[in-house]
Amino acid sequence: SENNYVLFDREGQIAILTFNRPKALNALNRELLQELDQILDQIAQNDEIRCVIVTGAGEKSFVAGADIKEMQAYSVMEARALALFGQSVCTKLERLPKPTIAAVNGFALGGGCELAMACDIRIAAAHAKFGQPEVKLGITAGYGGTQRLPRLVGSGIAKEILFTGDMISAERALSIGLVNHVVEKEELLNFSRSMAERICKQSKCAVGLSKQAVNEGTQMDLDRGLKYEAEMFALSFSVDEHAEGFQAFIEKRSPKF
Ligand code: HXC
Repeated sequence: SENNYVLFDREGQIAILTFNRPKALNALNRELLQELDQILDQIAQNDEIRCVIVTGAGEKSFVAGADIKEMQAYSVMEARALALFGQSVCTKLERLPKPTIAAVNGFALGGGCELAMACDIRIAAAHAKFGQPEVKLGITAGYGGTQRLPRLVGSGIAKEILFTGDMISAERALSIGLVNHVVEKEELLNFSRSMAERICKQSKCAVGLSKQAVNEGTQMDLDRGLKYEAEMFALSFSVDEHAEGFQAFIEKRSPKF
C-alpha cells in the first residue's frame, strides 16, 4: 500500500502484518488504520491465506495506542467518528474468516491492547507490556477496550486495568488470560509461526466454523450458543474435508486437508 504503515508479507499460507511506524512506537494514525482496513479486505478475499500473524516493527513496541498528537484537538464529533472507525477495523479483524495471532513484541497500550484483543490468539514476548492508559489522558478506551477486556479477563480485573491505567507485565497478562503464551523475544515470531503452521494443517472449514462458533456464541446465552454449535457441527459434515479426516483416522495416517 501507499504509505506502508502496515507491511503485508506472505510466507506460504501465512500472512504477516507488521505495524510500521517505529518512530512513534507504531501508534495508530488514521492512515495506518485505513491501510489495515484495506489489507484485511484483501486477506478475507484471498483463499490462499489460511492464517494471519500481526506484529509491530522494531523491538520496543507492538502498538503504543492511538496517535495522541492526532487526537489532541479533536471535537466531540471527531472523537466519536474516530472511535467508530477504529472499532469497525477491530471488529473486521475479529471477524476475519481466518485465524489471527497477535505476536506482541513490546508495548500493547490503549488501541494497541485493543487490536491485540481483536485477534484470536495472543503470544507475548517476555518484555511486552499491556495496558489501557487512556485515563491518564482524561479519556476512555475507544477501540473496544471497555468491552473486549472484561469479556477476556472478567470485569473485576478489566476495571482495575481501565481505572488505574497501570501497565501490566507479560507474566501478569498470562496469569489473567490476556495472553496465551509468553516466550523469549528471539522466539516470538518462530513460536507464532509454528502455531500458525499447526493451524494451517487442520481442516480450513473446521477451523473457520470453530472460530465462527466461538465468536457468535460468546454473544449469546448458553442455550442459543449450543444450538449454534450444533449447526456449525452439522455444517462441517457438508464439506468434503471431514471425509478425509475420518478416512485418515481409520487408515492410521495424517489427514491431508
Ligand atoms: C503518538 C506516540 C505515542 C502515541 C509514543 N509516541 N506513543 N505518539 N501517540 N500513542 C511517540 C512519542 O511521542 C515519541 O515521539 C516516540 O513515540 C517515542 O516515545 P517515548 O515516549 O519517547 O518513549 P518512552 O519514553 O520509551 O515511552 C514509551 C511509552 C510512552 C511508555 C509507550 O511513549 C507512552 O506512554 N506512550 C503513550 C501511550 C498511551 O497513552 N497510549 C494510549 C493512547 S490513547 P517523539 O517525537 O517525542 O520522539 C488510545 C485511545 C484509543 O489508544 C481509542 C481512540 C478512540
